[in-house]
Amino acid sequence: MHILANKNLANKHILLGVTGSIAAYKAAELVRRLREGGAEVRVVLSAGGTEFVTPLTFQALSGNPVHSELLDTEAEAAMGHIALARWADAVVIAPASANVIARLAQGRADDLLAAVCLATEVPVAVAPAMNQQMWANAATQDNLQRLRARRIHQFGPAEGGQACGETGLGRMLEADDIARHTAGLFDTGALAGLQVLLTAGPTQEAIDPVRYLSNRSSGRMGYAVAQAAAEAGARVTLVSGPTALATPPRVERIDVRSAEEMHTAVLARATDADIFIATAAVADYRPVAPVQQKIKKTADNLSLELVRNPDILADVAALTDGPLTVGFAAETENLLEYARDKLARKGLDMIAANRVGNGLGFEAEENALSVIDAEGVTELAQAPKTQLARRLIARIAEYFKRRLG
Ligand code: C5P
Repeated sequence: MHILANKNLANKHILLGVTGSIAAYKAAELVRRLREGGAEVRVVLSAGGTEFVTPLTFQALSGNPVHSELLDTEAEAAMGHIALARWADAVVIAPASANVIARLAQGRADDLLAAVCLATEVPVAVAPAMNQQMWANAATQDNLQRLRARRIHQFGPAEGGQACGETGLGRMLEADDIARHTAGLFDTGALAGLQVLLTAGPTQEAIDPVRYLSNRSSGRMGYAVAQAAAEAGARVTLVSGPTALATPPRVERIDVRSAEEMHTAVLARATDADIFIATAAVADYRPVAPVQQKIKKTADNLSLELVRNPDILADVAALTDGPLTVGFAAETENLLEYARDKLARKGLDMIAANRVGNGLGFEAEENALSVIDAEGVTELAQAPKTQLARRLIARIAEYFKRRLG
């Protein structure tokens, strides 16, 4: 039951902060729930947290080493506070003690968990757990007010019997509820009711029955954008070249091989779409006519005659009743200039330009984008492709709404 409800957890990196409260034992169950939903979990255990549960418990359940030291040279070398902050798609503190809530309210950075919370751009949530008097105390309520003003999410607490024998508000929510709320952090609703069409991956252009021309595109960026669009509430159709990737939840996938097949699949659906995002690395050329039988190695030299493939993106942009069009431009130099030229030449609404080479681009986990449209340039700083995709979708949604309004 909870697995269905938590589809948004698929492929997510959840950083779970466990602090000093008797409810820390429930965090062990939470790690399992998050992983059942498809998330990868890393645990940061505060000094208070280690009084209640051992790092070994969380290491075994999460399958990852547990992090606790801010200034430990070995730990910093493996994955320091900045690396953890960038790794995470969301930070959830469960249980969140009165102490950690006070420390976050002050913006402190003198332990690992507090420093990660300061250093991250992703959603942060607290699931409070404390005695009902401590919960009701004006100091705690003031602190939570400050956290809410900074858009830190609050899950619970619940009411009921407490470990100390008292009854009242302050019990941490159950693991199932926290997992569900965590999944909900990714539901932005920014594209609710809209139809998004995407292309992703490489294309394969047949030379003969067993050989083809292709490129190194992994499809990762496109799949991440498709997933982010689905989480933002859109109905998503992904026209994909051959990739090794799993279809993101709630995404309709149409498999194609060649640029011509991709062109046909996209044009058949383009007028129904509100937004078209072309992330595919479409082969520019294809063999004039694939040979029907496997080519034998008889001659010393072999020439292949190639012909230009249709430009899928430009054709969608040229439709009179077409969707808002977003293209990608991968460049090794003169990034903005070449991207602006592509935007104008293909008649696009928006282009996401990324620098390739030096560890960025096709086969890399991380990327950075300069998004250009009629309103100017928006820089999306280097981040894992999944995070970058969410920021790109947020930017597209904002632009789409203004254009309609
Ligand atoms: O012209 P260039 O290939 O650099 O343009 C890249 C953009 O155009 C990408 O968004 C890509 O998905 C799209 N494209 C396309 N069909 C082609 C070539 C590129 O949709 N044949």
